[in-house]
Amino acid sequence: MLKINNLSKVFGQGSQNEKQVLKQINLTLAPGEFAAVIGGNGAGKSTLLNCIAGVHPSDSGSIMLGDYDITNWPEYRRSRLIGRVFQDPLMGTAYAMTIEENLAMALAKGKSRGLQPGISRSDRRNFRDRLAQLELGLENRMSDKVGLLSGGQRQALTLLMATIVRPSLLMLDEHTAALDPLTSRKVLQLTRDLVAAEHLTTLMVTHNMTDALAFGTRTLMMHEGSIILDLQGKERSGMTVETLIASFKKHSGEELVNDRLLLS
Ligand SMILES: Nc1ncnc2c1ncn2[C@@H]1O[C@H](COP(=O)(O)OP(=O)(O)OP(=O)(O)O)[C@@H](O)[C@H]1O
Ligand SMILES: [Mg+2]
Repeated sequence: MLKINNLSKVFGQGSQNEKQVLKQINLTLAPGEFAAVIGGNGAGKSTLLNCIAGVHPSDSGSIMLGDYDITNWPEYRRSRLIGRVFQDPLMGTAYAMTIEENLAMALAKGKSRGLQPGISRSDRRNFRDRLAQLELGLENRMSDKVGLLSGGQRQALTLLMATIVRPSLLMLDEHTAALDPLTSRKVLQLTRDLVAAEHLTTLMVTHNMTDALAFGTRTLMMHEGSIILDLQGKERSGMTVETLIASFKKHSGEELVNDRLLLS
């Protein structure tokens, strides 16, 4: 589903601050594969997601998504195939619009402009059913402005919006990091259920090592712009946080440094 070949990214090329942030990344995700990405501060995790989403052009390499070579596509075109949720609950939704207006906007993504009708009865029924699955009571608040929702409720809604049109790829960048522990758990479980139900190909950056082993089907560890560990199957299920840290040290030659990682 996703095939990345020799992807490289340099920031500040030719300047004093030149920095190669991604170094010849190769990564293939099969349909329905759910990979958790972990790594130290500045390892390049967010940059990898941003290069896939087209926020930054890559310097070399290619990105295939499904049957499409999206390497040179602009971000807006990729966004029709890619669902994203960020760390900041304020980013995914329009706070001055109602819950149902936000969902309608997400549903219209990918349809050509000018052909967007109002919210039909069947849309509204669809929204209500999907919101009910979150078990947050949002199905009874569809006319409420999103600005009234808590961070966790907004992240849950953003997740719905990112998947209401089935994305070829779902990318989550520490999407529960700003939430309290209980809400974070809830949104993670919701993520797992949604990904499984829709069989979504997913890349999830997390700073929680336990989650990186427990959620999904694969664990990728990044360090200084490279994927230094790629765990799946038996090798992955045999890992603990301790052996993961030891493995990181062995493959990188360094201690794992990530403020949030170490605090979690
Ligand atoms: N737009 C940019 N311009 C210049 N440098 C950038 C830019 N975006 C990221 N960087 C640099 O690229 C490196 C990788 O950053 P990135 O945000 O991908 O790290 P990360 O693995 O997501 O880290 P964290 O765990 O802290 O979120 C860092 O050194 C960062 O300062
Ligand atoms: Mg990041």
